[in-house]
Amino acid sequence: MKIFIDSGDIAEIKEAQAMGVIDGVTTNPSLLSKAGKPTKAAIAEICEVVDGPISAEVVGVEAQEILREGRELAKIHKNVVVKVPLIDEGLKAVRIFAAEGIKTNVTLCFSASQALLAAKAGATYISPFVGRIDDISGEGMDLIQQIVQIYRNYEFKTEVLTASVRHPVHFVQAALIGAHVATLPLKVIKQLLKHPLTDIGLAQFLADAKKIPQS
Ligand code: G3P
Repeated sequence: MKIFIDSGDIAEIKEAQAMGVIDGVTTNPSLLSKAGKPTKAAIAEICEVVDGPISAEVVGVEAQEILREGRELAKIHKNVVVKVPLIDEGLKAVRIFAAEGIKTNVTLCFSASQALLAAKAGATYISPFVGRIDDISGEGMDLIQQIVQIYRNYEFKTEVLTASVRHPVHFVQAALIGAHVATLPLKVIKQLLKHPLTDIGLAQFLADAKKIPQS
């Protein structure tokens, strides 16, 4: 399963990149609003750090505006993926982007029917928000299960990008289900590494290593 970092913060992205575990980056207007840079400059900077799919979101809601913005974003770098909200005007644009060879990440997905329509429109990625479904007492990972099953049933090429991931359990469940990608905040990426028995075991080994005669 590919791992993307869900962040607009260049310091966080560099830290995750240095860990050697990420394959791409997802941003959204909320994350970029914290970066304090114009969108194009922030995305261009991220493309210099991570050589993988970089999702940049449009803020238009009409197809013509989404197409104009998306074509501008796609010009920033060959790795830019245009992030489009899952609304009817958005899917109209996704179909045209697909014809123009512009990769898309359809975002704000909360149902399997939405995901099926996005795949039929030719989306490269679909982003179901599991954490926000859990926030309202739903089971976000059930949606991932449904979408992966439906896409397999009809051999859709669209990749399932598990988004709004809140903890390592979401990550492991996504992998067990067979999602193609999970996008994680830096905090969760760091949690993936941690296990108390690893720390205890390493401390013991290092302590015992000191008892080994050097000559
Ligand atoms: O990038 C979209 C998604 O990951 C947002 O996550 O934590 O704001 O629900 P969150």
